Amino acid sequence: MTAVGIDAIEIWTGNLKLDLPGTFAPEKGEDPEKYTKGLGLNASSFPDSYEDIVTMGANAAHRLMERKGLEPDDIGRIDVATESSFDNSKPVSTYVAGCLEQVFDGDFHHANKGERKFACIAGTQSLDDAYNWIRAGRNRGRSALVIATDTALYARGDAGEATQGAGAVAMLISEEPDLVELSTEQGYGSADETDFLKPNQQFPSVDGKRSVQVYLARMREALEDYESVAGDVHPEDIAYIPFHTPFPGMVRKAGLLGYRHITRDTSIEDELADEIGRQPRREAFDDEAAFRDAVREYMDSLKETERYREWYDATIDPTLSISREVGNWYTGSVHVARASALKTALEQGRDLTGKTMIVGSYGSGAQAEIHAETVGDGWEAEIEALSVDDQLDARYDLSWEDYEKVHDVHNHEMDVDVEEFTAPDSEFVFDGWGRMGERQYRYVE
Ligand code: HMG
Repeated sequence: MTAVGIDAIEIWTGNLKLDLPGTFAPEKGEDPEKYTKGLGLNASSFPDSYEDIVTMGANAAHRLMERKGLEPDDIGRIDVATESSFDNSKPVSTYVAGCLEQVFDGDFHHANKGERKFACIAGTQSLDDAYNWIRAGRNRGRSALVIATDTALYARGDAGEATQGAGAVAMLISEEPDLVELSTEQGYGSADETDFLKPNQQFPSVDGKRSVQVYLARMREALEDYESVAGDVHPEDIAYIPFHTPFPGMVRKAGLLGYRHITRDTSIEDELADEIGRQPRREAFDDEAAFRDAVREYMDSLKETERYREWYDATIDPTLSISREVGNWYTGSVHVARASALKTALEQGRDLTGKTMIVGSYGSGAQAEIHAETVGDGWEAEIEALSVDDQLDARYDLSWEDYEKVHDVHNHEMDVDVEEFTAPDSEFVFDGWGRMGERQYRYVE
């Protein structure tokens, strides 16, 4: 069977930055370590006044197409995953295609365009759609462009405010991919949950503490479902596990859950038994609360073992390096985690070709998905081409007053004077409203 997967990726961060320990913490009267150590975040990426989900998505896609030497005719499908959409009818992918047609010869008139919604997991669902389209033989040799783009803003004063972020990830899905091949096997954990939602409102309504528990419950189910089709996974055979990363502290919990789950039926539990005992089994407990207490106690001991710490440092921690500097990008977050892992491997001179990653995606509402990826032999060149470090360094550092202004500019319910903090350079910008209320864009050289 021909391999199908991600041939190339590009990342585009919002042009502004909010420093969490330096600017946010003093204003909130909180200990800076709550953010750096507790949540695991140093900064949030923010969109300048002329940026939005279309400009960031189109900028990432433009860079990706130029780098790969692609023309519009090479693309048969454009899917945008977002939970920050501004139009219930016309998909964001049409706006993105309109932008790209300003800078490329040719057009996307014969490409299928759409928009995917299921909170943060929609980016991975769009990958699935592209994978299935190619597998079904409907692509006529063309590739799919998948763009995950969000301005993940919360209302001021909301507990989620510290986890905000803005950016886009563009991915090219093709046969014989250079970066990673996607597995056919997948596992799902899905249930009707009310943990985070935006019922016709711009900023989310969030039950933050509960959302953490729902994430972990659905992820555990997805792991179980994945193993039921792919067979048992041995944690030490996995190079990296990029998880959806609303903030790195969440992934600390997911990593522990993943390790506990996938060591259950392997020799690792036996080897650790003398040190920390055996994992509690549900059938050995009369009531749920006692079982939960025993699991918590086991997990607390497990995370203190040297074996777990080494595994976490090698397998999970490298997935968090970009996220620490940008915050939550919703649909793009798990794809940023994958890029972080590969970038760390490149920096450490690790040979990853042929190695396996397990990817854990999640969207509130709620659904988790697990699949495997095999690293392709062109991964080093693809990751070397990323300019994410330069982009992060070039961001304008917002003062608290700047932050309040730019947050208001992006609040659709407020009518405030637009102030720009940076000058656009070789990128698409928002250029005002059209006669039917559509958003308009132009390319600035
Ligand atoms: P909070 O209540 O302000 O924070 O918000 P906290 O008091 O729970 O503290 C956070 C962590 O910092 C804790 O660590 C504290 O102990 C620690 P933990 O016990 O959890 O390991 N801490 C400190 N550490 C060191 N020094 C200190 C210090 N102080 C505290 N001085 C909350 C936390 C997650 C509720 C909030 O950020 C929130 O509401 N976030 C938005 C929702 C969210 O991100 N949920 C994650 C799961 S749902 C998801 O991922 C989906 C999502 O991406 C949306 C989608 O799918 O579309 C959100």
